[in-house]
Amino acid sequence: MPAFPIPKWLPALVACIGAPLLPMAASPGLGPLQSSPGPSFARDIRPILEQKCAGCHNVRIKAGGLVVETYEALIRGGRHGSAIVPRHSDQSRLALMVEGKIEPRMPLQGELTPDEIAVIRAWIDSGAAPPQEGEPTSTSVSPEIPDIEPRVPTAAPVVALAIGPLGGLLAAGGFEQVLLLDPKDGRVKATLPGAAGIVRALAFSPDGSLLAMGGGNPAESGEIKLWDVPGAKTRHALQGHRDSVYSVAFSHDGRLLASASYDRLVKIWDVVAGKELKTLKEHNGPVYSVAFSPDGKRVVSASGDSTAKIWDVDSGERVATLSAAVGELYAAVFRPSGDEIAAAGEDGSVRIWSSSAAGAELRRTVRAHGGPVARCAYSADGKTLISAGADGIVKLWDSETLAQLHASEPQADAVSSLAASPDGRTIVVGGWGGAVTFLDARTARKLFATRLVSKTARR
Ligand code: HEC
Repeated sequence: MPAFPIPKWLPALVACIGAPLLPMAASPGLGPLQSSPGPSFARDIRPILEQKCAGCHNVRIKAGGLVVETYEALIRGGRHGSAIVPRHSDQSRLALMVEGKIEPRMPLQGELTPDEIAVIRAWIDSGAAPPQEGEPTSTSVSPEIPDIEPRVPTAAPVVALAIGPLGGLLAAGGFEQVLLLDPKDGRVKATLPGAAGIVRALAFSPDGSLLAMGGGNPAESGEIKLWDVPGAKTRHALQGHRDSVYSVAFSHDGRLLASASYDRLVKIWDVVAGKELKTLKEHNGPVYSVAFSPDGKRVVSASGDSTAKIWDVDSGERVATLSAAVGELYAAVFRPSGDEIAAAGEDGSVRIWSSSAAGAELRRTVRAHGGPVARCAYSADGKTLISAGADGIVKLWDSETLAQLHASEPQADAVSSLAASPDGRTIVVGGWGGAVTFLDARTARKLFATRLVSKTARR
């Protein structure tokens, strides 16, 4: 019989990893075991969160709205509210996600061992107790120390990508910087420093002379910079959002910029003057994506409130609400012909809506991916719709019929960004682990991949 008290959760763990069960009958009286506490937050849970989760669930990146750096933040939960229901691991989003019962499986990058999953479950089932007096509540080593460069360069998620209009430049968003790559070979040509927080949104102006970069610090401020590409300097810094900026888009004449933020607002900016023109505020959740119609008269926004909304740019009035999705919407884009909108998100479906002066009507729906659709885009000629799933698969659809044309192999990294080249030849996807993969836009076959090493949000 072991000399130490057998924790209540150990049998679950042993059963889970398939080792022979401990000789329970031989241990005299299970009585004391009943009262033995479950796994401890500080000893058992904190190291797992630190090593396997905090790379994305830190205050800077805040993937899924969830921060695991302190016990309090962990309990507060993410976009779907609390991820832990004490004593009920079978109702806890966190446990269900690490087991793969809710897509996407966590961690998005890396893996939990069966023991780690069992310990997490056991901790939740024993009541998800907080750290004891004197134990650290924080998972990060030294969260208060500002700006220490990591000793080893680490991959930072690539959550934004944009290809210039002439196809000669690929911009990739990183932590406090944007990398400019050669789309032919993925070589890094330049680094644009000085962005606030993680750059989650990128767009080139139609003539390629400006690059809009959106980011900010969660729950503090949103920031948009208009970068003068030939002059290699900031033209305007646009302040107004109160939370991270998730999407930016130029109108086709290059005069207006639309931005979408976690603060639930869409804003329209005058690009030349660098001034805010309008705030569109009817969404009841974070706004993840925004796009202009080709004639510049309309804007479509997609939100965590599970609707997409079409807005009239001149009046700032809402024209239509597209509400068929069951769950958050992450993407809404106009077809280049302007007559249709594709929207997709958490429920894994892609829906096509008509868009006209009269409003919008749902036309076609396809169940596109097993889990959420992270991004979608039209090819430059509008014939193909591209969807990227949290499952790492990129699919090509006939935009008229929604018949599936091709599907890629699953990416090594879960997809966090997508861009289609203006010449219709290449699709680029960015991943949560820093991978940038180039696919053939006609077949979805992988051409080549590179991994961007940049500053990391973790200290
Ligand atoms: C490489 C980045 C990455 C890592 C590492 C990672 N996650 Fe996530 N996580 C995400 C992203 C992105 C989302 C949002 C996914 C979505 O909604 O489609 C998410 C969402 C979640 C959510 C849902 C939050 C909500 O309310 O919607 C939970 C819970 C979660 N992760 C737990 C974990 C745990 C536990 C770990 C470590 C074992 C982990 N994650 C590691 C990127 C990551």
